[in-house]
Amino acid sequence: MTTEPKKVIIIGGTGNGSVVAAAIDEANAWGDNSWQMAGYLNDRHDIGEEIEGYPVLGRLADVQTFIQQGYYFIYAIFRIDGQDKRMAMFEGLNIPRDRLATFIHPASYVAGNTEISPGCVIMPQASISSGARLGLGTVVMVNATVGHNSKIGKLCHIAAQACLGSYLQFGDGVHIGLNATIREGLILANRSTVAMGAVLLNDIAEDEIWAGVPAKFLRRAVKEFNDVE
Ligand SMILES: CC(C)(COP(=O)(O)OP(=O)(O)OC[C@H]1O[C@@H](n2cnc3c(N)ncnc32)[C@H](O)[C@@H]1OP(=O)(O)O)[C@@H](O)C(=O)NCCC(=O)NCCS
Repeated sequence: MTTEPKKVIIIGGTGNGSVVAAAIDEANAWGDNSWQMAGYLNDRHDIGEEIEGYPVLGRLADVQTFIQQGYYFIYAIFRIDGQDKRMAMFEGLNIPRDRLATFIHPASYVAGNTEISPGCVIMPQASISSGARLGLGTVVMVNATVGHNSKIGKLCHIAAQACLGSYLQFGDGVHIGLNATIREGLILANRSTVAMGAVLLNDIAEDEIWAGVPAKFLRRAVKEFNDVE
């Protein structure tokens, strides 16, 4: 007996949202069929407009209507500055945990004894090592690796090719930039960011952005942002 794929709506649009949509399609081409991409909730595009092949079905404020209609959700809005607002927007949507879609691409490696929370996305060629734990709605992009026994908070974003060591402790809303490397055992506090290409050797505090090799403090993240994709 074949099970029907569940219908998933991505909250967001071009960029993070559309690459996840493409990966869902591609997983289905592999015969995965866990999820069927339905469209987007997006406040910037017209309803009915297509984003890379899938329609904008409604606004973020319409989420409860779509919950009643049986859809599942991936939260793909992402910002470095404005993490507070991004995270508050997610909380404000009040999506039940059992309606957050967990998408694990079949070409990723996820060790058996990991904890992958609802709403997480694990993209192709990403690798989650044994004992790692990912919080609600965390996204691990293509080719990124999460080291063994690392604890990643909720709504974190691990960009493509990032390489995370073992026994890390991340707060919530942490962003690791493209191709950054994080030494094992470090603590990265809430909403902190490691720039693309950085090699991080130190713990970093809330809202701090560190960049370079070895990484140094660059600036604090800005609290607000106004554009919502
Ligand atoms: C760290 C980051 C957020 C800084 O952005 P920003 O504040 O707009 O920075 P700017 O481009 O204005 O640069 C400010 C300074 O930081 C330096 N800088 C910026 N990014 C840097 C990086 N990744 N490594 C080293 N130095 C960097 C710039 O050279 C500049 O230095 P200067 O003042 O001596 O000229 C950004 O560069 C970054 O890494 N973003 C992550 C991108 C990413 O991972 N995307 C994934 C999703 S697709």
